[in-house]
Amino acid sequence: MGVIQRYREYLPIAESTPVVSLGEGSTPLVFCPRLSTRVGRTVFVKNEGVNPTGSFKDRGMTVAVSKAMEHRARALICASTGNTSASAAAYAAHAGISCVVILPAGKIATGKLLQAFAYGAKIVAIDGNFDDALRLVRELGKGGDFDIVNSINPDRIAGQKTAAFETVDDLGDAADFHLLPVGNAGNITAYWAGYREYQACGRSTKLPVMIGFQAVGAAPIFYNRIVEKPETVASAIRIGNPASWKQARSAVIESHGAIDVVNDEEILAAQMWLARHEGIFVEPASAASVAGLFKCCDSKEAAYSVQKIPEESRIVCTVTGHGLKDPEVITAQMKKLKSVPATVNDVRRAVGL
Ligand code: F0G
Repeated sequence: MGVIQRYREYLPIAESTPVVSLGEGSTPLVFCPRLSTRVGRTVFVKNEGVNPTGSFKDRGMTVAVSKAMEHRARALICASTGNTSASAAAYAAHAGISCVVILPAGKIATGKLLQAFAYGAKIVAIDGNFDDALRLVRELGKGGDFDIVNSINPDRIAGQKTAAFETVDDLGDAADFHLLPVGNAGNITAYWAGYREYQACGRSTKLPVMIGFQAVGAAPIFYNRIVEKPETVASAIRIGNPASWKQARSAVIESHGAIDVVNDEEILAAQMWLARHEGIFVEPASAASVAGLFKCCDSKEAAYSVQKIPEESRIVCTVTGHGLKDPEVITAQMKKLKSVPATVNDVRRAVGL
């Protein structure tokens, strides 16, 4: 069941809206025993990497593309650090509409570029970063030839709210603390809107503290200034001028949360830790939420210390995209596999028995 079918009453969907769905959403909220022990609190991971195109973008895309079809859009367009383009391309293909994706040249993880190509999007690589790409998309969207499916389109945010709904439905109430990576800041905006809406409808009794994490080299909200040349290994959140900057600030202020930063080393260490200790393999940007949680535990500089988190709290970390999308860093760490003769003895020796 896709998110429109599951949460139709909360979404801007009419009887006449043609529903374009790939069965997104209903992703697992995984209780993580080793992560909980490490942190000393109950921790769940909301694994958005298992959506149809491997990222949380599909939740917003099903709504945005359905609405685009409703008002007979001619073509879709988006700027992307990779995941939005993969998702837009897939939903466009499913709807039978064309899709243009504007990408920063050389800055898109292999798996994501490959997806956009496989789903048949028209790919335009620009000499510029994501912020330049989004500026171009805003301009091109004015002409009426394209429907923009970036998160500046409110239908995207509406769809992404459903991740907060699911979290509440699974936990029986809101999380006490919700941690997530922040790039263009649409997702933190959407979660906060979803949590508030669900509470207003009586589906939950409380609201979580929202804590967002940016990469040190791409942390405009944290530093409160535009970053002209954002840099981080977490290419998905390499963004210097987030579109939903103000909304992210409001979410953090209203929820008494924080925006903090994690460095590339912390991001990659958290990515590996989560894969090896919990069996959840995510892309680097996604690991920012877990790296952030570790920072809350370990660092005096953390914007929000774990000491401020009551022991009985339930913490949710959203991980946003699948690890297979961005294999470069881990591939570089792998040694070349040498084969052994096909005998039981050789295999026993190879595994150290
Ligand atoms: N994690 C991943 C894997 C992402 O792809 C993104 C954003 C984020 C986190 C941050 O979410 O932008 O809502 O704050 N990716 C966009 C894209 C920018 O083009 O795919 P945000």
